[in-house]
Amino acid sequence: MIDLLEINLKKATNAILNAKHITAFTGAGISVESGIPSYRGKDGLWTKYDTKVLELNYFHENPKEAWETIRKIFYEYFGNAKANAAHFALAKMEKESNLKAIITQNIDNLHYEAGSKTVFEFHGNSKVMLCTKCAKKYKVEQIDLNKLPPKCDSCGGLLKPDFIFFGEGIPQEAYKNSFAEAEEADVFLLIGTTGLVQPAASIPVKAKQNGAVIVEINPERTVFTEGITDIFLRGKAGEVMTKLSELLYQNFS
Ligand code: APR
Repeated sequence: MIDLLEINLKKATNAILNAKHITAFTGAGISVESGIPSYRGKDGLWTKYDTKVLELNYFHENPKEAWETIRKIFYEYFGNAKANAAHFALAKMEKESNLKAIITQNIDNLHYEAGSKTVFEFHGNSKVMLCTKCAKKYKVEQIDLNKLPPKCDSCGGLLKPDFIFFGEGIPQEAYKNSFAEAEEADVFLLIGTTGLVQPAASIPVKAKQNGAVIVEINPERTVFTEGITDIFLRGKAGEVMTKLSELLYQNFS
C-alpha cells in the first residue's frame, strides 16, 4: 500500500532542499510532545480552565485568583517542559538549510531552548515578567511565585507574565518581522496550529498569497489544510520532523 505520508515527505524534502527562504510558523501542537497540552481539542487547556484569567480586566480586578490559575497552567505545567525532537529539528534546519526564522504563537520558550536563534514570539514569552505600573522586566526565576500576586520590587506594581492576554496588542517587533517573513518565504512550514486565532492566522495566508509552498504538519486536518496547504504531512510534529530530518540530512552526510 503506497503510504501517502512517505510520498508527501519526499515532496516536502524536495521543496526544502530547493528553498531559498524557509519560514516556520508554530502553534501549541509542536509542544504537545513536550508535555504541554494544547489549548483546543480533546484535553485542551481551554476545556479545563476559564480563559477569563487571561482577560486584562479580570486580571487587574482579581489578581490573586487570576495568578493562581496562571501559575498552575503556565508555571507548574510549562515549568519543567523540555524541547522535543520537533524543536531540535527546526534548530538543525536553521543551521543546515535555509530556515531563516521561526514565528511562534507559543510562549513556552522551547524554540530558544532547542537552540534556534531567530524566533519571533508573536504572543510573547512566559519566562519574562513585566511590572504593569513601571514596565520593569524580570526573569521568572527572580520571582517567588509562592507569594501571589507578585509585586514589583521597585514600585510595588502588579507583575504580569510578558505574554499577551486576550484583547492585548501583538508585540510590535514580532508583528512587523512576522509579516515581513510572509513576504519573503518560498517555503512556509505550518506546524501544530488550528489557525483559529487572529492576527497570527493571517500570516500563513499572506505567505500563500506571495507564492510560498505551504507544508503543514498536524495529526488532524485544519482550516489551513482545506484552504492553503500544498503538502500535508499528517502526524505528530516530533515524529514527522524526525523523518523529515533523516531525509534532508542523510543526503548531506
Ligand atoms: N504535533 C503536531 N500538532 C499537534 C500535536 C502534535 N503532537 N498534537 C496536537 N496538535 C495540533 C492539534 O491538532 C491542533 O491543530 O496542534 C493544534 C493545537 O491547536 P490550538 O490548541 O488551537 O493551539 P494554537 O493553534 O497554537 O492556538 C493559537 O490560541 O489561546 C490562544 O494564544 C493562544 O497561541 C495560542 C493561540
